[in-house]
Amino acid sequence: MSVVDSVPAVAAAPVPYAGSLLDPEARALLLGAVYEVGTDPEQATVLGRRTAEWERQVGLRSGAGHVIACASGTSALCLALRACRIGPGDEVIVPAFGAEPLASTVLTVGAVPVFADVHPATMVMDVADAARRLTGRTRAVVPAHTFTSLADMRGVRQLADAHGLTVIEDAAVAQEATLAGRAAGTWGDVGLYSFFPAKPFGMPGEGAAVLTDDAELADTVRLLRRHGQAEAHGPVHHQVGYDSGFDEVQAAYQLARLATQDARIARRAQISTYYSERFAPLRERGLGAPAPGDERCHYVYAVRTGRRDALARHLASRGVGTRVYYPLPLPRLPAFAPYAPAGARWPGAERASATHVALPLHPGLTESQVRRSAGAVCEFFD
Ligand SMILES: Cc1ncc(COP(=O)(O)O)c(C=O)c1O
Repeated sequence: MSVVDSVPAVAAAPVPYAGSLLDPEARALLLGAVYEVGTDPEQATVLGRRTAEWERQVGLRSGAGHVIACASGTSALCLALRACRIGPGDEVIVPAFGAEPLASTVLTVGAVPVFADVHPATMVMDVADAARRLTGRTRAVVPAHTFTSLADMRGVRQLADAHGLTVIEDAAVAQEATLAGRAAGTWGDVGLYSFFPAKPFGMPGEGAAVLTDDAELADTVRLLRRHGQAEAHGPVHHQVGYDSGFDEVQAAYQLARLATQDARIARRAQISTYYSERFAPLRERGLGAPAPGDERCHYVYAVRTGRRDALARHLASRGVGTRVYYPLPLPRLPAFAPYAPAGARWPGAERASATHVALPLHPGLTESQVRRSAGAVCEFFD
């Protein structure tokens, strides 16, 4: 036996599902932001001049006429629904597959979520199914961009225009994505981005922004985020509002991080494209993967297979982390089942829940980690 043969094989380092939240660059920026805000004689820590500048920058990048920073994406949905005067007696169409706030915020404002099915391949709202679920009480539709898929905003817009509905575009995960050259988040009457850590514009804390071109709607959102109090007119409460400010430390962090934001998004897009190219030949063996192309978001790369759990176990055995995001359609969750009509079905959402699994997609992945992650998927289907 040679010396080389006697050396035990070194196990390749794992490929973690999620990236490090505070890599050295991010940690230095956060500490700098804390120092900057903490030593600023102005001592404004919430909704100060840095937040105003961050709103301006998000406006410049997205093209939205008005950007209102607020405490979270969940809060942004509540603010948008309230500003659009959605409340008791109203129905709001939301996708049956997706994040829980899509339904909970509708209930929070006193309206009822009506679940529309999703396309099993793209996992975003099926507009034809949404149309079948309209009633005389339907007031709004909330399409959500999901994983790498952009919602069918043209279809949603047509449906909304035909029936006089408001479009609240949930672009919580879709910062920097474009559809027909127009930024995600700006297709609806009102839209939103989340800056929760895992999101493409994530930061080390909670925060979000509401986007709209409608000045009156923007004023109402500003009013509602400060307890219903008009900024210019002192402590007079015009509406029952929310406490939904944006932290100045987070704003300072986001502004400092803008310089490298494009590179991080480009890296996410590059990894996502690489996966799609590697997985295209696996379609005939039962792997559904996002088609390569520019019109997608850069949040989560999810593939679909009827052997999802076996694939996840195989990837775990190869050190590749995975995640199942929504194991049940929203109307099957105990929280929302009471609002699901008896006998209603969402076959696309059921399939998406049963078959999706997400692979590592974050800018910190090395080339070799990306190749190993893709290679382990290909090996499973060999
Ligand atoms: C589609 C969607 N909408 C809204 C939210 C809520 O955002 P936040 O976590 O900032 O409250 C999320 C969060 O995951 C989301 O994925």
